[in-house]
Amino acid sequence: MKFFIDTANLEQIYRAHSLGILDGVTTNPSLMAKEGIKGKDNIFQHYKAICNIVDGPVSAEVFATKYDGMIAEGEELYQIEPEKITIKLPCTEDGIRAIKYFSEKGYRTNCTLVFTVGQALLAAKAGATYCSPFIGRLDDIGSDGIALLEEIVGMYNYYGFDTQVLAASIRHTRHILRCIEVGTDVATCPLDVIEKLLVHPLTTSGVEIFTKDANSIK
Ligand code: G3P
Repeated sequence: MKFFIDTANLEQIYRAHSLGILDGVTTNPSLMAKEGIKGKDNIFQHYKAICNIVDGPVSAEVFATKYDGMIAEGEELYQIEPEKITIKLPCTEDGIRAIKYFSEKGYRTNCTLVFTVGQALLAAKAGATYCSPFIGRLDDIGSDGIALLEEIVGMYNYYGFDTQVLAASIRHTRHILRCIEVGTDVATCPLDVIEKLLVHPLTTSGVEIFTKDANSIK
């Protein structure tokens, strides 16, 4: 399973990259706003800075909600770094049309805000590179995000779609472990959730004991 980091924070992206396990980055307008990045020039520069840190794909979301605007914006975003930028588009009528347009041009796309198997089917048929079901937001409303993930993975495997399932809106390590169980292609997570995978009291106490014993025999 690939690991993307879900942030626009350069320091966190750098820390995840330094671990040597980072496969890509996802952002969205809320994450950009959280970093205080404002205005087209600054936003584009910020994407450039992200692309300079990571080796893998970087999802950049369009702000436009209508087809023509999505096409114009997506083209500009892609040119920031054609080897890395993945155009992120919402699972709406205009978004699906734009995904079809970009996929026919050979551009990478990420279909975001996916909450049903039907939406995931349309994303794949339009040729999306990634389909992003929002696990945590479904759990928030008493639904079952992981169950949706499992259905989408099964449906893509059954029909042989190339679209990769990118689990998004991940809130805790249990989500990541369940992503592994259902065979998700990619999980995009905040840095603290990735780091918590490392933590176990027996690892911590084991290192302390080995260090003490190592020092006693130096
Ligand atoms: O990748 C989408 C993700 O950023 C949404 O997460 O926590 O806002 O639901 P959240």
